[in-house]
This record gives sequence, C-alpha cells and structure tokens, in this order.
Amino acid sequence: MTAPQIDLKAYLAEQENKSFLRFLTCGSVDDGKSTLIGRLLYDSKMLFEDHLSALEKDSKKFGTDGDNIDFALLVDGLEAEREQGITIDVAYRFFATDKRKFIVADTPGHEQYTRNMATGASNSDLAVVLIDARKGVLTQSKRHSYIASLLGIRHVVLAVNKIDLVGFSEEIFDDIVKDYLSFAQQLGFKTLLSIPISARYGDNVIARSPRMPWYDGPALLDHLNTVDVDTAVAGKPFRMPVQWVNRPNLDFRGFSGTISAGHVKPGDAVVVAASGRTTKVTRIVTMDGELDDAVAGEAVTICLADEVDISRGDVLAPASARPEVSDQFSAHILWMAEEEMLPGRQYLLKVGAKTVPATVTELKHKDDVNTFEHLAGKTLALNEVGYGNVSLSMPIAFDPYAENRDTGGFILIDRFTNGTVAAGMIDFGLRRATNVHWQALDVNKNARAGLKTQKPAVLWFTGLSGSGKSTIANLVEKALFADGRHTYILDGDNVRHGLNRDLGFTDADRVENIRRVGETSKLFVDAGLIVLVSFISPFRSERRMARELVGAAEFIEIFVDTPIEVCMQRDPKGLYEKARAGEIKNFTGISSPYEEPEHAEITVKTQGRTADACAAEIVAYLRGQGFVP
Ligand code: ADX
Repeated sequence: MTAPQIDLKAYLAEQENKSFLRFLTCGSVDDGKSTLIGRLLYDSKMLFEDHLSALEKDSKKFGTDGDNIDFALLVDGLEAEREQGITIDVAYRFFATDKRKFIVADTPGHEQYTRNMATGASNSDLAVVLIDARKGVLTQSKRHSYIASLLGIRHVVLAVNKIDLVGFSEEIFDDIVKDYLSFAQQLGFKTLLSIPISARYGDNVIARSPRMPWYDGPALLDHLNTVDVDTAVAGKPFRMPVQWVNRPNLDFRGFSGTISAGHVKPGDAVVVAASGRTTKVTRIVTMDGELDDAVAGEAVTICLADEVDISRGDVLAPASARPEVSDQFSAHILWMAEEEMLPGRQYLLKVGAKTVPATVTELKHKDDVNTFEHLAGKTLALNEVGYGNVSLSMPIAFDPYAENRDTGGFILIDRFTNGTVAAGMIDFGLRRATNVHWQALDVNKNARAGLKTQKPAVLWFTGLSGSGKSTIANLVEKALFADGRHTYILDGDNVRHGLNRDLGFTDADRVENIRRVGETSKLFVDAGLIVLVSFISPFRSERRMARELVGAAEFIEIFVDTPIEVCMQRDPKGLYEKARAGEIKNFTGISSPYEEPEHAEITVKTQGRTADACAAEIVAYLRGQGFVP
C-alpha cells in the first residue's frame, strides 16, 4: 500500500475509533477458505502493493485459475513455511474497511487440525462456516460449528461457496441451509446468516451479485461491517491476570498485564483473587503515560497502595465482584493429542498467566459432535470433546468460560513433551473439598519414625511381569525386618484383590491403580515405615507423580531390569503364554507398553544373578545412603 498523503495522526486516530471484529473461517480442505480470505484482503485494498504484483505474477505461473488472480496463493504461500514444526498453526490477518477493522484467524482445514480451529475460535467473535455447495454439510462442518459454539462464538455466517459450480441454484442453497439449521439450532447462536457465494469470482463477497437475483440478503462484507457482536467485556467486572511484577528500582513496584474485562481507575478497591488480600489502585501506568481509567484490552501496569504479595499468574479483581477460587471445577475438554486423555494422569493446566499441576478426575461423558448426544466413556481420543471434573494441586482464581474467555479458558500441557494436549472451558467451580482442612497432628512422621529409629522411605519396584520385583522385594523386606526395621509391602497382585479390585488393565485403569498406590504409600511413609511397592507401574508419568507425592528425598525408584525374553521363559504364572495366545488383552510388554525408567536410583539387572544377590545390592544402597544403619 502506498503511504496515503494525509495527516498520519488523524488517520491513526480514525483507525483507533473504528470497531473491531475478530472472526475465523472454518471448513474442510478445498472449501475455499484461502480464496475467500485472499479476496477479502484484496478487495478491501489492504494488501501491500509489492505483495500484490508478486501475486499477479505467481498466479500466471502456478495459478489454477486461468487469467484471474488466484487468491488462494496469497494465503497458502505463507502456510507452507509455517507448517514446519509449529504445533498450533493459526495465522491472523488484518484488514479494514471504512467502517471496521478486522482480524481474521486463518486455520488449516485438515481433520487433524481441530486444534488450530479451536485456537482461532477462542480469539474470535464470529465464525464463517464454509460449505462447498457440491458437497453440502459434512461431518467436519458440524464438528467445527460445535467447537465454535463451545468456544463461545455466538455469531455465524454460513457461506455456501462455489455456488457457480451448481449453476447458482437456489434449490441447492435452500437444501444446504435447511440441513445446517436442523442441527445448528441446538448450538445457541445469536445470529446466523446464510449467504450463497463464489469466493473465486467474488459473487456476494464484497457486493451483491447480479447472478443470484433470488438472494435478497446482504453481501458477506456488508454483513461483517454491520453485524452487532456486542462482546461487552468492558461492561463486565474488572479482571487482570498479572503477567509480571514490574520492579525496575526500589521506588517502583507495579503489576503488568492486559485487562481481560471491565474497567479500573485509580482509587478502586481491588483484591488479589486467590489470597483475598484487598488494597487500592494508586496509579495506572502505560507506555504513553498515566491513565485515569483503563479498560478491557489495554496493557497496563497497576500500582497498589499496600505491599501485598502478588506474583505472576495472580488475578486482580474488584473486591465487590471476585472471581471464583477453587482447586476443583467442571469443564468441557477438547482433546487435541494423539495420546489419549487418561483420568488421574497429571498434566499442567494454564489459565491466564497461571500454571498448576492438574488431573481430570472424572470424565462424566463424551459428546457426539454430530448428534450432540452424550456418550459414555472414561477417556478422550484425538479431537474428541468431553465434560468432566478437573482437580488442581492448589486453588486458583477463575470465572466460568461463559462469563470470561480469558479467565475461564485453559489449556492442558503434557509434562514430558511440553506439548498442548487439550483446550478447556470452565463451567463452574466445585466446592466439595472447601470445608475439609488439613488436620495438624502432634505425633508426626518424624516422631513416628524416630520411635522406630529409622528413616521412612518408599522403595518403588518397577518392571515387567515376571521380572522378579515381588521376589526381590520380599527378600529385601526379610533382611530389613531381621535388622529390626519396620516395613510394609504393597504388592500389585495383592492390592488388586482389595483396594483396587475394581480396576483392570486398560491404560486408564493402570493410571488409577498407581495413583491410589502412590497415595497409600505416602500414608505409610507418614506412619514412619519403609514401604516396598511392587507394581509393574509401566508409565513414567505416574511413577513421577508418585515421586512428587511422596517427595523425592524419600522416594527410591528401583528398576528391576529383566529382558522380556527372560520374563517369558520364566513365566511364573503362565500369563505370557496366555497373552501370546491372545487370551489376555493389554498384557504389558506384549500388547501394552512398558516405559523404562530414565533416572531410577537403582537399576537391578537380574539376568544370570540370584535374587539374593539383587536384594543384597538394594540393602547395601540403603545403608550407603543412610536410610538404615
Ligand atoms: S500395573 O501395570 O497396573 O502396575 P500391577 O502391578 O498392578 O500392574 O499388576 C500386575 C499383575 O497383574 C501381573 O504381575 C500379573 O500377575 C497380573 N496381570 C493380569 N493381567 C495382566 C495384564 N494384562 N498385564 C499385566 N499384568 C497382568
């Protein structure tokens, strides 16, 4: 774009005052998203000129569109670069008309990219759902519409594209609209406008097309220019998640972040949501000086009257309208990872600027994205949506997603890969544990252990079935017992007869099995005992959870390292034979994974050695480390 010969300041001010519409386009591959976005950018003249001439040249070379400019090239060219290595791949494009400014989230349309679509939707007020007139409403159109509604989108445009390829048929258009409305009615959209378009030729995109006289609604851009999305975050109670504590010198201490809802003024009484500490705003500082009033969307630094304890992730709110504070809530969860969601497994949960360990404790149901029926299910696979309870390792401040997308939306992060595995929308806080307090007891772990003249610890034996865990644990316990130590053994086969009798061998059940045993061993350590835990415990994630639960100083992981061929030969319970014959499902090492420890305190190689020698090695370690005299 050539620089306009106008007063730049006035121009910018005018841009500032225009309203903003954030929207996304969704559809399947080849529905014409790129072409549509390209056309909007081109026709609204917000393209840089050099970009434009390059496009004209490119279209001549590679275009699929004869002598016309291929708008898809404009968007797709950038996409190829970004495909590499970026997990969430959403491009935000900016354009403006004389009425409004627009940010459009452009998200790749392949089925596996639901995550991109969800990311785009979480930042948008309106969705343009593109349908290929030749194909009609597809499963993916429904999935995207459903996810858009889940992520808080209340305004939809159903753009029936490629209408030129079906002879501008009113009848086909009407059928598609009817089909779409039959399910979209349940999604609670406030506005839903259906428009027949040809993104390629521009029909009904920027201006009404003479080729469809039967259509009497507005062109797409007219609608985008005028639709009232009334996001009204400014009218909601003030919220600001603290991004960082700004302390350039001893005289200044401010809390920086972007206001996610409402207004704030110097003199306002505010509260640090999680701790409940109240204070007053003294100043609101920005790059351009101090403000008398700051509003949602502005990035500010707030100074407070008192020296209150605030760190990154805390939420500032009015004392009179606080967010909820809890360590449990129910939420919708959109699963975005190849590896399934396992209840009881620990993930990191991020809301605003706060990150805490969290588990999905219970999945209440899964949602069928076609029929919106609730389906029974314990786990979630890639692209599945479910509803369940989430439990956090500490209370956090939040709002229901319906009230505030910033303080009510979260992501879940895998603790090993650091990848985003889910997007979540908080429904409401659960207060079941609110009135349960930790009871301080006079006789504590140290006192109990002292009486036994020992240091409590967990010896966590992990390894394949038949590797020798129980045999070695038994010998270690015998040796410790003979020395006058107080011990207890938790053995997989035994605990599965009682406490864990309701659990089988699916991944989900194994996670719960180990979670319970982790909690139990923590109680035994608190009793001052040396606890020997002998479970296959095949997943790194849950062994790590047990370690964190007990505390690393008192957790000794012992990898009983026996090659599977040797375990198969030993086959003490005849289970490998059955598993190989297909009579036992999900058998560890055969049809279910075993993840070897990477940092076990002790690795015992059993092959070619007696169990006694292995046990002696472990006892020697305990002596060496001072656990036993
Ligand atoms: S874990 O994987 O959840 O830690 P756990 O140690 O409790 O397993 O139980 C393992 C024991 O259950 C094995 O030693 C074996 O006797 C028995 N078992 C029965 N079915 C299976 C199976 N599918 N996979 C592994 N062990 C099984």
